[in-house]
Amino acid sequence: MSTIKKVAVIGTGVIGAGWIIRCLAHNKIVYAFDKDLTLKKKLLAEIKRTWPYVKKLFNKKKLNFKNFKYFTSIQETLKDADFIQECATENYVLKTKLMKIIGNYAKSNAIISSSSSGLLPTRIYSQCKKPERTMIGHPFNPVYLLPAVEIVPGKKTAKKYLNKANKFYKSISMNPIIVKHELPGYLSDRLQEALWREGLHIINEGHATTEDLDRAIEDGPGLRWSLMGTFLTFHLAGGKSGMKHMLEQFGPALKLPWTKLKAPKLSNKLINRLVLGTKKQSKGRSVSKISNIRDEYLVKLQQLRKKYEKKLR
Ligand SMILES: NC(=O)c1ccc[n+]([C@@H]2O[C@H](COP(=O)([O-])OP(=O)(O)OC[C@H]3O[C@@H](n4cnc5c(N)ncnc54)[C@H](O)[C@@H]3O)[C@@H](O)[C@H]2O)c1
Repeated sequence: MSTIKKVAVIGTGVIGAGWIIRCLAHNKIVYAFDKDLTLKKKLLAEIKRTWPYVKKLFNKKKLNFKNFKYFTSIQETLKDADFIQECATENYVLKTKLMKIIGNYAKSNAIISSSSSGLLPTRIYSQCKKPERTMIGHPFNPVYLLPAVEIVPGKKTAKKYLNKANKFYKSISMNPIIVKHELPGYLSDRLQEALWREGLHIINEGHATTEDLDRAIEDGPGLRWSLMGTFLTFHLAGGKSGMKHMLEQFGPALKLPWTKLKAPKLSNKLINRLVLGTKKQSKGRSVSKISNIRDEYLVKLQQLRKKYEKKLR
C-alpha cells in the first residue's frame, strides 16, 4: 500500500480538477494552486457536479473537505507534499520553467509527476533539482472516473520512484502502465493521435462530418475497445486460428491507401468544420450538461466492465 498521503496539484484546470476530486475521494490530503487565482470558485462547482458520479463509482459515503486546501502561493502548496501532480498548460517552455520552481520548493524526497499528454520528461525536467524523482503521470479525461495513467520515466528517473508512483496511483484506484522509456506522445496518445489525424483528413477532404466519424467509432470499435484493445480484438477477428489468419486475410491491406498518417494543415476551413460539426452534435447543450451524460455512462459501464473483466483476465 502506498504511504503517500499529501498530494499537491499545480494547475487546477480540467485535468488538475480531476486529480483533486479523485485524490479527495481516496482520502488523500490535497493542496492546490493555480496561477489564475479566480479558478477556485470553478473548481468547487466542478467538485459539486462530479461528486455524485465519483461517490457511486468508488462506493464512498462523503467527501471530506477538511482534507482540501487551496493556496495562493506555489511555495506554500508544495511545502509539505509527498507527491506533486503538475497539471499546467501543455507547453515545453512553460513546463520547463515551472518544473525548476517546483524542484526548488518541493521536499527533497517528494515525487514530481507531470500530467503532460506527450512532452518528453527529460526535456521538461532538464532544470529540475533531483531529476531521479521526476516522471510523467499521464491520465485521461475525466481523471476522476477513468483509471488510465501512463507512468513515463525520463533518462534520469530512478526505478525506486517509479515503483513508489505506481503504488500511489494504485492507491487512488488507477491502473498504471509503466512505459519502458520516454517517447513523444507516450502510448495511448500515439494511438489516439493516429485516429484523430486520420479523421481530420477525412473531414478536410469532405468525405464525412464530425458526427459521421463519431458514429463510426461509437457503434462499432468503441463498444469493443472498452473491454479489449485492438490486438486482442483482431485476434478474435481471425476466427479459430486467431491473429495468424487475421494477418493472412488483412495483411495485404497494409499496402492499400487506407491511411495517411501525416496531419493535414489546420486551415480555417478545417477548423470551421470541426467547430461547427461538434456544435451541431451538442444540440445547444453546454459542455457540463454533456459531461453529466458521459459521466453517468462511464460509471455504469465500468461497473459492468468489472464483472466481465474478471471472466477475461
Ligand atoms: N484535457 C485533456 O483531455 C488532457 C488529458 C490528459 C492530460 N492532459 C494534460 O494535462 C495538463 C493540463 O491540461 P488541461 O486540459 O487541464 O488544461 P487547462 O487549460 O484546463 O488547465 C491548465 C491550467 O494550468 C494553469 N497554469 C498555467 N501555468 C501555470 C503555472 N505556471 N503555475 C500554475 N498554474 C498554471 C492555468 O491557469 C490553467 O488553469 C496538460 O499538460 C495537458 O496536456 C490534458
